[in-house]
Amino acid sequence: MEAGVGGPTRAEIGDRTLRNDRWWLTPLITFTVFSAFVVYATFRAFWGKYYFSEPYLSPFYSPCLSDCVEGASDFGQPFKGFPLSAALIILVFPLGFRMTCYYYRKSYYRAFWLSPPACGVAEPHGSYSGETRFPLLIQNVHRWFWYAAVVVGLILTYDVFLAFGPAEGESDGIHMGLGTLILLINVVFIWLYTLGCHSCRHIMGGRLRHFSKHPVRYKLWTWISKLNGNHARYAWLSLFSVALADFYVWMVAAGHFTDPRFF
Ligand code: FES
Repeated sequence: MEAGVGGPTRAEIGDRTLRNDRWWLTPLITFTVFSAFVVYATFRAFWGKYYFSEPYLSPFYSPCLSDCVEGASDFGQPFKGFPLSAALIILVFPLGFRMTCYYYRKSYYRAFWLSPPACGVAEPHGSYSGETRFPLLIQNVHRWFWYAAVVVGLILTYDVFLAFGPAEGESDGIHMGLGTLILLINVVFIWLYTLGCHSCRHIMGGRLRHFSKHPVRYKLWTWISKLNGNHARYAWLSLFSVALADFYVWMVAAGHFTDPRFF
């Protein structure tokens, strides 16, 4: 017996869809932008160069834990001698967090696997098991990646504080340049994305019988719910901001661009 759109309980419709709007546009844009990001991030993560220009550290390489260029390591180098780029040691955490994010899942299932490509459009696959079996069952680790993402967020926030430090040749004290601003904007988007996570919302307000008995958790849950309503937006914004922050550090570190200093 056929399952899915061909199942016995579904209306028999010969066409793949009755939609006549441009339903293919969103998956196409998602496919293009995600692919571009993956190519860029992979290249940068493997390159192992131009990720630090005092006082800026690229978010792809933070924390730098192995054979870092001078000044880039704030937490020691326990993986000294690691044969590949330092970014590859920590990449699994932000990457795992995003790959298993509920919003990204919806997006890449639609854009890459056409499963389904859009609401009201039949998918090309004959059967559908959703996330009930291996390997997609693994997506359930998302809540654990959330804890790792909080640690990564705290480290990136620390990097922003350091970015208010002096650049080469400047006196001690508080300074600010365009790079500081870019890293600051990036970390704001990262937090808006991380705190608006569905798992975070559940951790804060899930499994409670009475909100009235947990007023603080209820308050936090209402704030998180507001962020959660814009989760897709922050997913995109933080994706762009993290790539932009890395690109900026690359340009400054390679000497292609001089960081304007505000004070
Ligand atoms: Fe998107 Fe958790 S659901 S980050």
